Amino acid sequence: MNKIAFVTGANKGIGFEIARQLAKAGWKVLLGARSIERGEAAASELRDQELDVEFLQIDMTNPESILKTASSIQADYPALTLLINNAGMPGAFSRSFSDTKEADLRNAFEVNFFGTFRLNQLLFPLIRNNEGTIVNVSTDMASLSFMQSSDYALNAFDYNSSKTSNNAMTVAMALELKNSKAQVFAVTPGFTKTDLNGNAEGGKSKEDGAAIIVGYATDGKRHNGEFLDATGVYPW
Ligand SMILES: NC(=O)c1ccc[n+]([C@@H]2O[C@H](COP(=O)([O-])OP(=O)(O)OC[C@H]3O[C@@H](n4cnc5c(N)ncnc54)[C@H](OP(=O)(O)O)[C@@H]3O)[C@@H](O)[C@H]2O)c1
Repeated sequence: MNKIAFVTGANKGIGFEIARQLAKAGWKVLLGARSIERGEAAASELRDQELDVEFLQIDMTNPESILKTASSIQADYPALTLLINNAGMPGAFSRSFSDTKEADLRNAFEVNFFGTFRLNQLLFPLIRNNEGTIVNVSTDMASLSFMQSSDYALNAFDYNSSKTSNNAMTVAMALELKNSKAQVFAVTPGFTKTDLNGNAEGGKSKEDGAAIIVGYATDGKRHNGEFLDATGVYPW
């Protein structure tokens, strides 16, 4: 089996850890980041650990950058079998529908939905032909079921709705892969201490958050169309 993976938003946080864990498990990892400086630094930190990592520049808000990177993967790494759409941003983590600002909603959607949509659509034929796997990194806060439960606390409509739309994309993609050996699914790492939430106390470590995603991405089981958390299938 070819073991080439592309991970977006991998210069830090959960994405960097995903890249490290995959490379330690023997994958060649294409480490995506929007900043050349931060991306090269992250890739070189992993190469210093004798891991097989290449940096690829990709800005998820820039359609030209996404097209350029997808084209270079098609040309240089046609054996890609794993795409992990990890890059994400929180908008302003609004606290309610009423206080949500349209600009924050648009910013969240641009990365978490439109950018991810563009990259997925460009690399979909390659992953389908290679019978590979696409993981859309989601959040439990995107679950419409969770939103209606008494445990739901942070009504961050900007961030959450962008990830709910990302979940809808996962379902739509999975329907197309139903009769193939390729697969797409969503995984939530759960509350993890990273820059995304100001390194809030109480979250799990980046290593543990990433391990949940890497675990499902490499367990050899079929998860097409599932939404998964640390314990198994999570309600949409
Ligand atoms: N932390 C949590 O509790 C939690 C829970 C559930 C789901 N998640 C999801 O996990 C994923 C990783 O988040 P994290 O917690 O590790 O946050 P993080 O440390 O803030 O990392 C986010 C990554 O996304 C990248 N990114 C943001 N906007 C981008 C753009 N326009 N183009 C390219 N890359 C961009 C960031 O790059 P820069 O360094 O250039 O900004 C960074 O590499 C996200 O999809 C997030 O929604 C996180």
